[in-house]
Amino acid sequence: MQSVLCVFILLCLFQNSLASRISMISNGLKGCRLGAAMKPPLIIVVVVAVLTATRLKSATAAASSRDIVKTYSDPSVQLFNHLVIDKNTGRVYIGAVNKLYQLSPDLDLVATEKTGPELDADECSVLECTSTVNKQLTNNVNKALVIDYTTSRLISCGSLFQGICSVRNLHNISDGVVQVREAVVANNATASTVAFIAPGPPNPPVTQVMYVGVTFTLGSPYRSEVPAVSSRSLEKDRMFAIAQTAVTTGTRMFVNSLARERYPITYVYGFASEGFSYFLTTQMRHTTSSQFISKLVRVCHDDENYYSYTEIPIDCISEAQGGRKYNLVQAAYVGKAGSDLASDLGITAQDDVLFAVFSESDPANSNKPSNLSALCVYSLKAIRRKFMQNIKYCFSGNGQRGLDFISPSLTCVSTVSQPVKFECYLPPNNLPSAPASGRSNNSNQKLHTCTSFSVSYLEA
Ligand SMILES: *[C@@H]1O[C@H](CO)[C@@H](O)[C@H](O)[C@H]1NC(C)=O
Ligand SMILES: *[C@@H]1O[C@H](CO)[C@@H](O)[C@H](O)[C@H]1NC(C)=O
Ligand SMILES: *[C@@H]1O[C@H](CO)[C@@H](O)[C@H](O)[C@H]1NC(C)=O
Ligand SMILES: *[C@@H]1O[C@H](CO)[C@@H](O)[C@H](O)[C@H]1NC(C)=O
Repeated sequence: MQSVLCVFILLCLFQNSLASRISMISNGLKGCRLGAAMKPPLIIVVVVAVLTATRLKSATAAASSRDIVKTYSDPSVQLFNHLVIDKNTGRVYIGAVNKLYQLSPDLDLVATEKTGPELDADECSVLECTSTVNKQLTNNVNKALVIDYTTSRLISCGSLFQGICSVRNLHNISDGVVQVREAVVANNATASTVAFIAPGPPNPPVTQVMYVGVTFTLGSPYRSEVPAVSSRSLEKDRMFAIAQTAVTTGTRMFVNSLARERYPITYVYGFASEGFSYFLTTQMRHTTSSQFISKLVRVCHDDENYYSYTEIPIDCISEAQGGRKYNLVQAAYVGKAGSDLASDLGITAQDDVLFAVFSESDPANSNKPSNLSALCVYSLKAIRRKFMQNIKYCFSGNGQRGLDFISPSLTCVSTVSQPVKFECYLPPNNLPSAPASGRSNNSNQKLHTCTSFSVSYLEA
């Protein structure tokens, strides 16, 4: 229940443009992923109270009963995994283990769909399973729940059958269900998946695609075919196919076969802003065993080959706590700044701002969060500037391309004539199949009182 509240509090935060009043919150915002800490019976709480920064601490500890206007619970399921609200109708959709729910804006149950358990095995391909395979009754854990507003459809993806998705009518999730046999999301209960819809090939911003980030899972011969990051078509006859493909390129990115088993990437959040799609991840600093850090991954919307695939590390450092570094991003939200925060960050109230909750590794060098957390705020303008600096640096012949877990890192080569929108092109003179990267050596750049943001092109 607490984790549901977190989500609402983040929303309230940005609506109130708290700016300088946001300071370190050292307790209580842990594990904001929806459903992470829920125990039966499951309860969704709608918080209508307008929270202020000073009340945040107590509000996270417990929502007082007067803040709760309506609840919905289902004691028969183990976990609610995802929740989306239709911005036009206010309808609420919930993806759970073995169930999907459609609720009215007042949280009255309209429809329930059973999605599992079903007989499945890692050795089964997305299309077939021979009778010799020992299949087990397996839970279907909801891994992605997305509204496609262009066609008024609900896309839900589950862990069964190599992680396939179905498409449903927004008016009635039991109506016109189409299941597409394409491996899209993670195929077990815990491996991460992030999915969102934004402009993409073939004709952005007119055409929309589904951006998907997926953790590689072991144990199945078919997972090597599922990209770590991809843009998937939403066209009716090509549903969930990779939006654009060529022999070695296309709108997909794989972690290479040497690295993927020992270099786990956790996808935490995804969003689009001003011509780019971004993922927030946690991953190791090096491909050899090392500390986990948080990174922003970015691709250009009009890049049909992911040449623009770039990563930069993102830090959340508490100066008040003597430079304490909160290294693991746990949850995030992109919204508009509002006037107070905007003036603090030197942007306009209409500019995008990234709110992200971080935790520290516990134990050190693990990907497990401690019970301490912090909220950091970044303007997308500053993020874009940092990506641009890095890419420009490489186009000028400095540093390494980095990202050796994707393809061997190459030295950046200077180009005299830089393309106009160079962020969307492959850095100079490199193999066309290799992506651009962001690796760095720059010192921390301060963006906000509670925020540091460090990136560089070279491996520090
Ligand atoms: C939703 O669709 C199903 C299947 O077509 C139908 O049985 C059910 O009555 C519909 N529910 C509503 C609320 O319209
Ligand atoms: C899911 O897959 C990952 C990567 O192979 C593995 O570490 C994790 O234990 C798996 N989770 C479950 C519940 O099997
Ligand atoms: C947080 O973790 C520390 C060390 O693991 C422990 O001493 C402390 O009691 C924990 N605090 C809470 C509120 O759980
Ligand atoms: C990183 O930057 C510092 C200061 O600009 C420089 O002295 C150092 O050589 C750089 N490191 C690498 C690996 O380029």
